[in-house]
Amino acid sequence: MNWTRKHLLGLEGIERDEIITILDTTSRFREILDRPVKKVPTLRGITIANLFFEPSTRTRMSFELAEKRLSADVLNFSASTSSLKKGETLRDTARNIEAMKVDMVVMRHPSPGAPHFLTNHIDGSIINAGDGSHEHPTQALLDLFTMREHAGDLKGKRVTIVGDILHSRVARSDIWGLKALGADVTLCGPSTFMPTEVEKLGVTVTHDIRDATGDADIVNILRIQRERQNGGFLPSLREYSALFGINAARLREMKPDVLIMHPGPINRGVEIAPDVADGDRSVILEQVTNGVAVRMAMLYLLSMVRASKRVEEADILAEVGA
Ligand code: CP
Repeated sequence: MNWTRKHLLGLEGIERDEIITILDTTSRFREILDRPVKKVPTLRGITIANLFFEPSTRTRMSFELAEKRLSADVLNFSASTSSLKKGETLRDTARNIEAMKVDMVVMRHPSPGAPHFLTNHIDGSIINAGDGSHEHPTQALLDLFTMREHAGDLKGKRVTIVGDILHSRVARSDIWGLKALGADVTLCGPSTFMPTEVEKLGVTVTHDIRDATGDADIVNILRIQRERQNGGFLPSLREYSALFGINAARLREMKPDVLIMHPGPINRGVEIAPDVADGDRSVILEQVTNGVAVRMAMLYLLSMVRASKRVEEADILAEVGA
């Protein structure tokens, strides 16, 4: 097993072998989801807190389901109904949750680096479930798993990411993961949506959708984040859709076996046409199913690291006769 990290904070700096370990472990958990009884005792006795400071449908439900499928005890925390409203700090909230003997924390937060900050204040393993525009590692891992299921080894595969790269934590994590696996990554979108010097990450940038998708094996379409469009990034959604939206006519110009992906939530008729989202090249709902298995795998791997640390500590205590 090639996984020794205590936390999953992002995919920046991750090694190919680590990703392969996660994806291979995911395959084992994916099989459980097709059984009549979809529950195993792997995390019995482990308590996991889901701290969501931002809205979420897929990630939150997917983590909760993964935890329950593994028989963990689950605590759900929502910022809108918590004592944060009374002025409590993130650090104090987290330390109080830890005082309840929580083993792992899954956290979504609007501020980049919030999960990293938490690692300095609590002892449990932390999983980043999306921090601002920074990273969303489990989304990228489920993307990679879905890509590998269909396209095999991703080395040399052409993957195009279309849309608002600047604001996208999914794009950032996808890029790190895809580069670690040797894929050729192209980014496409308006120049206002491209981070400065993004080419330094080893990706190709184009503003022409036909160039970007004509020979792509996989096209991953990002959501236009309407909540972040008040900074003059886009003239209009209509113009974006005309220039970069993926519709049936554009799909016909792509490879016949191209894979169409989207992390959700979808803006139908903006970045993707309904008939493409629901069409036979789309694996969008498969991504959602695979997300549960990826999260089960991640929780399992992190629990194994915690368990081996406890064994090491017990060995040391035994050696010194404590
Ligand atoms: N893909 C994703 O992160 O979706 P949610 O915001 O619904 O969790």
